[in-house]
Amino acid sequence: MNKYFLSIISILLLFQSFKVFDEIFYHEEEGEGSKIFSEIEDEDSDISEEENEENEVVQKLDLDSLFVNFDIKKGEKVAKQCSACHDFSVNLKVKIGPPLWGVVGRKVAAINEFKYSDALVNFKKDWDRETLFYFLENPKEYIKGTKMIYKGLKKNSDRVNLISYLESLK
Ligand code: HEC
Repeated sequence: MNKYFLSIISILLLFQSFKVFDEIFYHEEEGEGSKIFSEIEDEDSDISEEENEENEVVQKLDLDSLFVNFDIKKGEKVAKQCSACHDFSVNLKVKIGPPLWGVVGRKVAAINEFKYSDALVNFKKDWDRETLFYFLENPKEYIKGTKMIYKGLKKNSDRVNLISYLESLK
């Protein structure tokens, strides 16, 4: 009886010491491991920052290269979708929306006779290729709170042609 008891105790002790050893070893390894892992993560985020910068450059370049091919006549056709609300003539008539003659390069919300939304008044930029390109893709998303009810032009080429047409109105 005593013999059995002793051997059970010693087995338990042995087992316990393995466990302790194992825990020390395992935890150390885990510590090392997570250090290495976080270093890898850091490196990763460096890479993605660089990639983001590259992407921004690429996006800007893309806009320029998109405007290499444009068709003012096609743009004029696309503009028919806008003419219910906008006057494109030199007479600068206010309709449901402000007149768009000379809009490219003009300050946003610059027509005194037109009552713009606060969203447009507070936008404080000029209408250049870039602002028009993204506004016309999805007006409500690009300037939240605009009262221009228009779903947007999804095709890049439609917007390039339309903006090129707008540029010709001067
Ligand atoms: C249903 C009427 C409607 C349609 C269709 C519409 N717009 Fe507008 N647009 C407006 C209104 C209203 C505003 C003023 C928005 C505000 O004050 O928030 C506006 C504002 C603008 C502005 C800002 C002008 C400025 O003086 O700052 C531009 C640019 C513009 N629209 C371009 C277009 C183009 C291009 C199209 C066609 C692809 C178009 N809109 C279609 C009603 C319309």
